[in-house]
Amino acid sequence: MSTGLRKAFSNAKAENRPAFVTFITAGYPHPNLTVDILLSLQRGGADVIELGIPFTDPLADGPTIQYSNTVSLKYGTDMTMSLQMVRDARARGLTVPVVFMGYYNPVLAYGEEKLVKDCKDAGVNGYIMVDLPPEESHSFRNLCLKHGMSYVPLIAPSTTNSRIPLLTEVSDAFIYVVSRLGVTGAKKEVNKELPEMMNRIKQFTNVPLAIGFGVSTREHFDLVGSHGDGVVIGSRIITVIREAVEAGKDVPQVVEQYCSEVCGRKAVELAAASTQPQADLEVTDAAGQGVVAVGEGKKLKSFYELATYFGDFGGAFVPEVLVDCLTQLERVFIDCTNDPAFKAEFESYYDYIARPSRLQLADRMTQEAGGANIWLKREDLNHTGSHKINNAVGQILLAKRLGKKRIIAETGAGQHGVATATVCAKFGMECVVYMGEEDCRRQGLNVFRMRMLGATVVPVSSGSRTLKDAINEAMRDWVTNVSTTHYLVGSAIGPHPFPMIVRHFQSVIGNEAKRQLQEKRGKLPDVVMACVGGGSNAIGMFHPFVEDKSVRIIGVEAGGSGVNTDRHSATLSKGTPGVLHGTRTYLLQDEKGQIIETHSVSAGLDYPGVGPEHSYLKDSGRAEYRVADDAQALIGFRKLTQLEGIIPALESSHALYHALEVAKELPKDKDIVVCLSGRGDKDMHTVAEVLPELGPKIGWDLRF
Ligand SMILES: Cc1ncc(COP(=O)(O)O)c(C=O)c1O
Repeated sequence: MSTGLRKAFSNAKAENRPAFVTFITAGYPHPNLTVDILLSLQRGGADVIELGIPFTDPLADGPTIQYSNTVSLKYGTDMTMSLQMVRDARARGLTVPVVFMGYYNPVLAYGEEKLVKDCKDAGVNGYIMVDLPPEESHSFRNLCLKHGMSYVPLIAPSTTNSRIPLLTEVSDAFIYVVSRLGVTGAKKEVNKELPEMMNRIKQFTNVPLAIGFGVSTREHFDLVGSHGDGVVIGSRIITVIREAVEAGKDVPQVVEQYCSEVCGRKAVELAAASTQPQADLEVTDAAGQGVVAVGEGKKLKSFYELATYFGDFGGAFVPEVLVDCLTQLERVFIDCTNDPAFKAEFESYYDYIARPSRLQLADRMTQEAGGANIWLKREDLNHTGSHKINNAVGQILLAKRLGKKRIIAETGAGQHGVATATVCAKFGMECVVYMGEEDCRRQGLNVFRMRMLGATVVPVSSGSRTLKDAINEAMRDWVTNVSTTHYLVGSAIGPHPFPMIVRHFQSVIGNEAKRQLQEKRGKLPDVVMACVGGGSNAIGMFHPFVEDKSVRIIGVEAGGSGVNTDRHSATLSKGTPGVLHGTRTYLLQDEKGQIIETHSVSAGLDYPGVGPEHSYLKDSGRAEYRVADDAQALIGFRKLTQLEGIIPALESSHALYHALEVAKELPKDKDIVVCLSGRGDKDMHTVAEVLPELGPKIGWDLRF
């Protein structure tokens, strides 16, 4: 643990005032200014400084901090630069303890142990990791312990009493208390339930409690400070910086003035305090002497009942505010899967969905390939036009059991959004769908459909304005409204238990296909295939065959403009493991752990991550993953359209292209089952748009 941090809180207590914990983003508004701003925070009365490490996908942060991250990344701020900023500030007289705050993926990319060591050398006292709850933090926490750095856990309003002891057990210097549900951001009022919440937490711990989220004024500072040992201000300081930049003012001076006004500590007082033996330059005590008695390798109790990992992939890397909700969801899911009445209820909607979907021999495609039989699992004939409805019906039944009346969802191609809006209409629930602006443009028809069904569609303008950003925004909504809202995740992605839940409801695809091919051919398929975006139609098709070792499993990813360009979405083929959207999986990321923008002609495959079970199937060698680029997908699209009279979704077209290729390689007595995940009506506009460029590449001239 950090002596500096401990002293910062004990000194403030001795002076009968709350410790002032300030937050800024490293590299904002420009990397050259950070050291001066750090020193100005100290002069303004900060007792502790949190230095935010920028990340492309800060899913628990509001617009102010998101913006500061974007600016900082634009100037190339990374972990190495952030460490150097602390070193330089220490050299120029910064004595206040510094805590790094950020998301896990950049830490993984830097190397956990190297980072902890480098932090210690640079004079960083602790780490707050927004998406690393205790269940996932044992390796990082043990490294902090080994090298004598503090690991600072978070407690949220939704944290139950049964969980608080776990969080206090992993804390040493202080605990960060999130004072309200929601993302970071300055607010007009302090949460009225704060006193009750603080009393609840104080029953369990004597560790100092710093309260943050929403604090911006002197009045807030005094009010919040009366309930805890420290007050955190972040977004407001970022706004002060932004306004100073816009007004052409001296940023460090404005920051210093704001801080001293808000905490009410005068320069004279500070000068006197600095002569006392307080927060010294010694960053840590001897390793392992914190209050935490967690030996190396010891794992803490997990609040989840099921295994959260598929091999090395999966887990639940979420802000603390969501953990209770996920464990509740897992419990209800376990109850439902053990309850025959739930299965019967799900199946009672088969008439609505139009299940079972047909398994059809694509005889002209088969002839064209001249090899194995190509069978189509016709999910395109489902109500709403894709496989997404299977999962939407299943999860809305779970939401009903959870007593949640408001549903949120993310969507890329709009098919999941349409499926969700549809079941919300059918079940009489409120529906909000987040969709990237770029996808709204590409899939205008689906936006219109969702609105007609009564859903609110929220266009997302951050980041790449596609599916990943829609997920970030849906997560932000969820952390704000977690008590009333179910997040109906649309693919086999996200934190545990979502990949398992989505797999469960989509496995109807593979289970039916297995039975149907048995009826038609008296055998198992030789190959099962599906396109892979997040991987829900694929895992639904694959899962029932994983133990059937004779069955080859092939997933097809989107190669966009080509895997050797920087415009593709081939996550499994070209990515590396990391953590995004709550799960450890393959990701398209740069060497600093920042997420790369993807491209595919099909909005539904345009995602830089993939379901964690696919990562496991890839690494274990059980499944193969191939890539079809935009032009090849268009070949698959054209073949099915013109040989079978079925216009497929562009997503499914990727799988169709490789189904033809694989069929060519196999003899005629073999059978390939390919998941036709959706129909192409939604894609007419896109195909018309890309044909002038892609048409000549594949010899398709469709000028009318
Ligand atoms: C028709 C269709 N197929 C496939 C996908 C990709 O999703 P997943 O990989 O979860 O099946 C989508 C996503 O929107 C889709 O609309």
